[in-house]
Amino acid sequence: MSEPVLVAVAWPYANAEIHVGNLVGSYLPADIYARYQRLKGNRVLMVSGTDSHGTPITVRAEAENRTPLDIYRSFHAGFLELFQKLGLTYDLFTSTHTENHFKVSQAMFSALLKNGFMYKESQLQWYSPKQARFLPDRYVEGTCYICGYTNARSDQCDKCGNLLDPTKLIDPRTRIDGSTPELRETEHFFLDLSKLQPDIEAFLKERASYWRPNVLRQSLGQIQSEGLRGRPITRDLEWGIPVPVEGWEGKCLYVWFEAVIGYLSAAIEWSQLQGQPDAWRDWWKDQRSKVLYFIGKDNIPFHAIIWPAELLGAGKAFDEVFGCSDQADFVLPYDVPANEFLNLEGQKISGSRNWAVWGLDFLTRYDPDPLRYYLTTIMPEAHDSDWDWNEFYHHNNDELVATWGNLANRVLSFAYKHWEGVVPDPGELEKEDQDLLEQVEKGFDTVGRELEAVHLRAALGEAMRLASEVNKYLDQTAPWFTIKSDKARAGRAIFTAMKAIDSLKILFAPFIPFSSEKLHTYLGHAGQLFGEQYTQEVEDTLGSHTALFYNPEKAGGKWQPSSLQAGSRFNAPSPLFKKLDEKIVNEERLRLGQ
Ligand code: MF3
Ligand code: ZN
Repeated sequence: MSEPVLVAVAWPYANAEIHVGNLVGSYLPADIYARYQRLKGNRVLMVSGTDSHGTPITVRAEAENRTPLDIYRSFHAGFLELFQKLGLTYDLFTSTHTENHFKVSQAMFSALLKNGFMYKESQLQWYSPKQARFLPDRYVEGTCYICGYTNARSDQCDKCGNLLDPTKLIDPRTRIDGSTPELRETEHFFLDLSKLQPDIEAFLKERASYWRPNVLRQSLGQIQSEGLRGRPITRDLEWGIPVPVEGWEGKCLYVWFEAVIGYLSAAIEWSQLQGQPDAWRDWWKDQRSKVLYFIGKDNIPFHAIIWPAELLGAGKAFDEVFGCSDQADFVLPYDVPANEFLNLEGQKISGSRNWAVWGLDFLTRYDPDPLRYYLTTIMPEAHDSDWDWNEFYHHNNDELVATWGNLANRVLSFAYKHWEGVVPDPGELEKEDQDLLEQVEKGFDTVGRELEAVHLRAALGEAMRLASEVNKYLDQTAPWFTIKSDKARAGRAIFTAMKAIDSLKILFAPFIPFSSEKLHTYLGHAGQLFGEQYTQEVEDTLGSHTALFYNPEKAGGKWQPSSLQAGSRFNAPSPLFKKLDEKIVNEERLRLGQ
C-alpha cells in the first residue's frame, strides 16, 4: 500500500553557510527518512527552501552594505550546490522569496483573519532614537528574564530555549551600535493562540505516546505550565511579505509566521510545476497522509505549537481564500523528531569563530558517504553529541572501510576472478548459509522498524552489525582457502555472501546512497536505486529563483531482500570507500578556529 508521506525539512536562513551541525540537525535525517520511505514504495514529497526574509538576513546585508536580495541569492546558490553534492533528495528546494509563497502566506493570513483568530493591538516595540526606526526583535539583545542568560535575543533565549516577551528583556542593547533602545507604541496583528490552545493541547496529547520527550516538554509542557498568549505576527519591516490588509503598507508578516507556511507553499509550487495543480492536497488535505518535520531543537515551539495553530486556525477557509474547489481540514504534524545539538571537539559550534566544519569545504577533501555515515553514528537524537576528528577517522577506517567496504570488495573481486563474472551456483544451501541469509533478511524488519521510528542511529548500527555477521560467516567458511580443495563449497559460501551483500546494499542505501548505487551496478543489476537531482530556474513576478528537484522516474530500488540469481553476470568491483591517513586528524584540528 502506497501512502503519502510529506518530509518537511527546516528552511535554512540565507545568512550563513551550512555546517555539519545544521546537516545533522535536520537536513540529513530528513533525507535518510525520505529515501527509506521511497524504497518502501510510499509516495514521498520532501520539501524545503531558503528562509530568505527576516532580520538574520537584513542584519547581514546591513553589515556588508549589500541588499537583502543579493545576500539571499548568494547563500541560496551555495545551499543548492551542497544539497546536490551530499545527495539530499528534495523533491523541491525553493525559497520563501517567490510569488507563490507570498500568495500562499497571504491566504493563510486572510483565512486566520476571517476565522477570527487574529486581533489588532498596539504594542510596545524597541525603538532606536539614534537610528530613528523600530528595531526588529533580533536587533535587540540582553539578559533573559527566565534563566538570566546575558546574551539572549529579545524574542528567544538560546540557553533555556524559551520564547520570550521582548519587552521584558533585562538590560536591552541595540545589536548594530550597542546603544540603548527605548519602548514605543506600534500597531500589529496578533495570532490568538489562547483561543486555539484547547485544540493544540488535544493535538499534542494525541501524539504524546510516541513523540520525543524533549519535543513534548517544549510544547505540551510549556502549554500546561504557562498557557498560550497571543503573539504579534506582523513587523515594522521592509524586507518580507506585505500584510494583505489595506492601510498596512510598510509592515510585513513576521518571518516565522510565513517561513513555516513554506511547507505548504512548496508543496503547492511543486504541484504547479508538475502540471498537477491539485496534487499537493494528497499530502495536505488527505488525513491518511503522514507529515514529519525534521528540525533542530531550537525550532520546536514554532513547529509543535505555532504552525499547528496556523493550520488549525486557517482550516477550510484557506481553500476558500485560495480558490480551491474542495474544502478540507489540513493534516496536522504526525511527528516532529527534533534533534539536539552537535558540538565540535568538545566546544559549541560557532560560525563567527570558524569553530565549524563547513559542508561544502568538507566535500572538497572527502566524499559524501563518509560524512553521511559519521554524522548518522553521532546523530544527537536524545542528547547533544560531539564531532571528533579522531572519531571520524576511526569510523571511516574501522567500520565503513574495514567492515562494509572491504567485505563487498573482497567478495566481489574474488568471485569475479574465480567465477569469471558469473554468480556461482551454490547447489543445495546448508544450514549455516540459510542462517546467515535469514538473519540478513530479518534486517528488513529490524532496520526498517528503527527507521520508521526515526531512530536513525540504531537503524544504521543494526545494518553494520549485520555486515559484521557476514564477515564472521566468511571467517568460518573461508572460501579463500576451500577454493583450493573444494571449489563447489567455496562457491556456496561466495553465493551466500553475495546475496547477503546485495541485501545489505539496500539496508545501507538510505544512509550511504552513493556507495549503494555503485554496488548495485557492480552486482550486475540494471538501472539504479534512486532517481536524479537537477536544478531549474523558475520565473515569476518577483524575478526568478533557482530550485532543486528530484526526479524519481528511474528509481528502481525496493526495500526487499536480494533477488540475485546464480548464473547472472556481474561486473568487476572497485573499492567503495577510501582509507584515510591518520594525519588528517591533526590537519583538520589545526583548521579549526583559524
Ligand atoms: N530558518 C530557521 C533556522 O534555520 C528554520 C526555519 S524552519 C521554517 O533555524 F520552517 F520555519 F522555515
Ligand atoms: Zn533563558
